[in-house]
Amino acid sequence: MCGIVAYIGHREAYPILIKGLHRLEYRGYDSAGIALLNGNLQVFKCKGKVSNLEKFTEGKSKSGTIGIGHTRWATHGEPNDVNAHPHYSESKNMVMIHNGIIENYAPLKEQLKKRGHTFTSETDTEVLIHLIEDIQQSDNLKLGDAVRVALNQVVGAYAIVVLSKTNPDELLAAKKGSPLVIGIGKDEFFLASDATPIVEYTKNVVYLEDGEIAFIPRKGELKIKTISNKAVTPYVQELQIQLEALEKGGFDHFMLKEIYEQPRSIKDSMRGRLLPDKGIINLGGIVEYEQKFLNAKRILIVACGTSWHAGLVAEYLFEDLARIPVEVEYASEFRYRNPIIYEDDVVIAISQSGETADTLAAIELAKSKGATIIGVCNVVGSTIARTTHAGSYTHAGPEIGVASTKAFTAQVTVLTLMALQIAHRKGVVPESRFHQLISELDLVPEKVERVLKTNEQIKYIADSYKNSRNFLYLGRGYSFPVALEGALKLKEISYIHAEGYPAAEMKHGPIALIDHEMPVVVIATKGASYEKVVSNIQEVKARKGKIIAVVTEGDTIVKSLADFTIEIPEVDEIIVQLISVIPLQLLSYHIAVMRGCNVDQPRNLAKSVTVE
Ligand code: AGP
Repeated sequence: MCGIVAYIGHREAYPILIKGLHRLEYRGYDSAGIALLNGNLQVFKCKGKVSNLEKFTEGKSKSGTIGIGHTRWATHGEPNDVNAHPHYSESKNMVMIHNGIIENYAPLKEQLKKRGHTFTSETDTEVLIHLIEDIQQSDNLKLGDAVRVALNQVVGAYAIVVLSKTNPDELLAAKKGSPLVIGIGKDEFFLASDATPIVEYTKNVVYLEDGEIAFIPRKGELKIKTISNKAVTPYVQELQIQLEALEKGGFDHFMLKEIYEQPRSIKDSMRGRLLPDKGIINLGGIVEYEQKFLNAKRILIVACGTSWHAGLVAEYLFEDLARIPVEVEYASEFRYRNPIIYEDDVVIAISQSGETADTLAAIELAKSKGATIIGVCNVVGSTIARTTHAGSYTHAGPEIGVASTKAFTAQVTVLTLMALQIAHRKGVVPESRFHQLISELDLVPEKVERVLKTNEQIKYIADSYKNSRNFLYLGRGYSFPVALEGALKLKEISYIHAEGYPAAEMKHGPIALIDHEMPVVVIATKGASYEKVVSNIQEVKARKGKIIAVVTEGDTIVKSLADFTIEIPEVDEIIVQLISVIPLQLLSYHIAVMRGCNVDQPRNLAKSVTVE
């Protein structure tokens, strides 16, 4: 996600800002920029790496002891020079950097256009800085008050820093939903999205809280107010952890950090799209193509790896809810088997990186036959995203760990919204069911938070099976793709052979593998096929298999049969996969760590397979 740095004090700002942006590169980004105030307000920004920005500023005057810097992870608007931050206000007398999503930026932009504002970028950020200046000018307010009034009109998440030519001895910062840290030096202040750019200058920091605005002076005391204008006493903490740990947010590995980010990343994938108060789902990116879905005789889904597992969930969702036939294809097979493709086919291409060669080739093939291509990608402006006709970004933020975790749950969330939106548009899902599922989805982030609390229990289970040579993962219905995903997680980071299977398929072969050395992970949550899964568990037990079961809270039947049970909150069975996958991610993580494997960069694997 985006990275923010800012400085005000007695030193030259540029070197501090550039170094700070390098420190934030690990967060993932696609463009970078800096603004400096030295009488004039200078903005340098460009697409690409921070090193590109440094080249871009070579030979240019970069003086100034106050400035802001930003690495952009695109959410609204392609990665390019114009959309890069900082963004100017209308008068070009102030600039702003922003991390987050302003959900109501479109109506605000329309209002401002009617008041004569002109915009150069596609971003939500530019709208906010124009709004701040419009309010300051029309209500004749101080900058800090204008920021406060503007933020009371904003819906969404933000961490912002504002720099104004007419306010050369103060930075304004505000936070809601996205992180912002203030480092307190001697007659100088540092700001950043996390402490990594700050820790080398000072260990005294203030973590801004949601709904707070900070007034950061060149000299003197830091002041904080809430957006309801109440003074807040800054709570200064002393940083304890070192730089390397900070990049992982205090976690030992990026993968664990990303597993724990899932309550937020799932929420972000629904932000502005699931509106429970209004009882609507609105994936704006596919609205113009809804009719294509309604006319389609079938949906094809092309993907690889974990994304293919998300596609399998989507098959169950679209057929179950929208009553549209679905075929899920491994992109690498689809592209070469001379498939039948109809012009009225809708193809959903799923890819975290948006750069997977096989998926891209499958898209090109389907496109050449006249099919409509809908993308579900995590990287804005990626090749696959730009090759599709339309789509919905997953907004999971950058996924650094090679083993996909938060991207999977974000993909499944977006696909669930998509299937529900199409089913509702088609009129084949009862209103009561539609609204019940909207409410259930809204509760998912909180339920994921609860499941993460089973981490220590899962670590204990991992210790019992870390030396196993084989694992079997079983699930039925919506939990079958989760069984496949759990097996993939384990094998790709712990190098233990693991297979996912439909639970009922066991009798057609895999049951021959069961013995006292075979751990069998079973997703046995409440649902239509629960009793059948219990029978499968009994078959495993009869052959001395070791059973690790994921069950619905309060389950006693499976508990009496399994060697270990992991309880998850009750949830509708068509969205259970968003919750039941979490324990499997943690199980694979802990086993891999106990086996001394390189969890974030497993052997032989790449984060994005851009070659065949
Ligand atoms: C999953 O943990 C792996 N990293 C891999 O299977 C991955 O899902 C696959 O390579 C597809 O990548 P994509 O989603 O970026 O297209």
